[in-house]
Amino acid sequence: MAHLPLVDLKRLHEPLARELGDAFARVLASGSYHLGPETEAFEAEFARHEGGGEGICCGSGSDALFLALRALDIGPGHAVVTVSNSFMATPESIVRTGAEVIFCDVGEASRTLDPADLAQILEEPGAEGIKAVIPIHLYGRRADVAGIDAVLQAAGRQDIKLIGDAAQAHGSPGVSQDTTLTCYSFYPAKNLGALGDGGFVIAQNSRHAARIRGLRNHGRAGKHSVSEIGLNSRFDEIQAAALRIKLKHLDEWNQQRRDLADAYRERLGRHDGAGALRLPADAPNHVHHLFVVQVTVGADSTVRDRVFADLRDKHQIGAGLHYPIACHQMPPYPTSRALPVTEHLTDHVLSLPLFPGMTLDEVDRVAGALEICLDLRAPGTRITTPRGARL
Ligand SMILES: Cc1ncc(COP(=O)(O)O)c(C=O)c1O
Repeated sequence: MAHLPLVDLKRLHEPLARELGDAFARVLASGSYHLGPETEAFEAEFARHEGGGEGICCGSGSDALFLALRALDIGPGHAVVTVSNSFMATPESIVRTGAEVIFCDVGEASRTLDPADLAQILEEPGAEGIKAVIPIHLYGRRADVAGIDAVLQAAGRQDIKLIGDAAQAHGSPGVSQDTTLTCYSFYPAKNLGALGDGGFVIAQNSRHAARIRGLRNHGRAGKHSVSEIGLNSRFDEIQAAALRIKLKHLDEWNQQRRDLADAYRERLGRHDGAGALRLPADAPNHVHHLFVVQVTVGADSTVRDRVFADLRDKHQIGAGLHYPIACHQMPPYPTSRALPVTEHLTDHVLSLPLFPGMTLDEVDRVAGALEICLDLRAPGTRITTPRGARL
């Protein structure tokens, strides 16, 4: 039985190999290797694609968050609210500015920042130091930014700025319009990934954009002088050239992701919520970066790990864990706040393979294996779309 990985990037890139090779040759011949014409063109193209604003490329998604916070003058003595059931880069970027992280719990169904818990945070000691909230559009699902806005309005805290972490939500229609600054990662496995590292900020305000442009290049005011302390977070022309080619396919790839998520729902829907398995709720503009189910058998928190290992060892299927340890459970990011939903999720989430180019036969294979692992067998309904079809 062939191994089925969580994400197969070779399959994604194979049909683009010649076009990518031609673009690399063009960059090589140009003699311009970072922050050149390819970067400039990509900045305009990607910002337009995401709903508008001014786009700035930088070295990574982690840097994008750090630069966005710096552009808002966030630093020591300030606090920033985000969630803990995600990648450590978000709290890390806050701490890098010298500000304090406040973790908010997440909704049970949305698994994104819970506006009700944010309202609670705004009443807790230290709330006056909060300068920004970073909702994360986790797994490709949009965070409830309208709900967050309503809470800030009701508390009279319109001074708090919103920074969207869209590292898992490229191409979700209009996502850049939700927040003052929106940050992306081009880590290779993202919905739009580079062939290495890269990041991006979309600013709705040209003052913020200009500040980020300076900060990403050492805080330069001119060739030989700096106006503030920045960092080297420049962007490679070769990555911009690759991303311009890949951007042309992003909408079609996101549609394939939606179709694969629907196929999982069709195949596994009859088990949803009935016992051990809970499927992710759909939502408007979801771009399904990951298909994360929840596996729960009574109070047994070891079942998910057993299923993960069985899929790998008995079925040659690469599942993923996003994320088995919440950020606040790691030594650098302790919290005194209770985060019960976040902590419940760490023991139960399981990411199933989903990537553009995956076939419906492969969805069937994963669903069947999961049924065996969870003892849910009873002959599975087949997916009705022609078998073997590539979505
Ligand atoms: C939600 C989230 N935020 C931030 C990042 C950081 O991006 P990068 O790995 O490009 O620094 C990632 C990605 O890996 C992410 O998934």
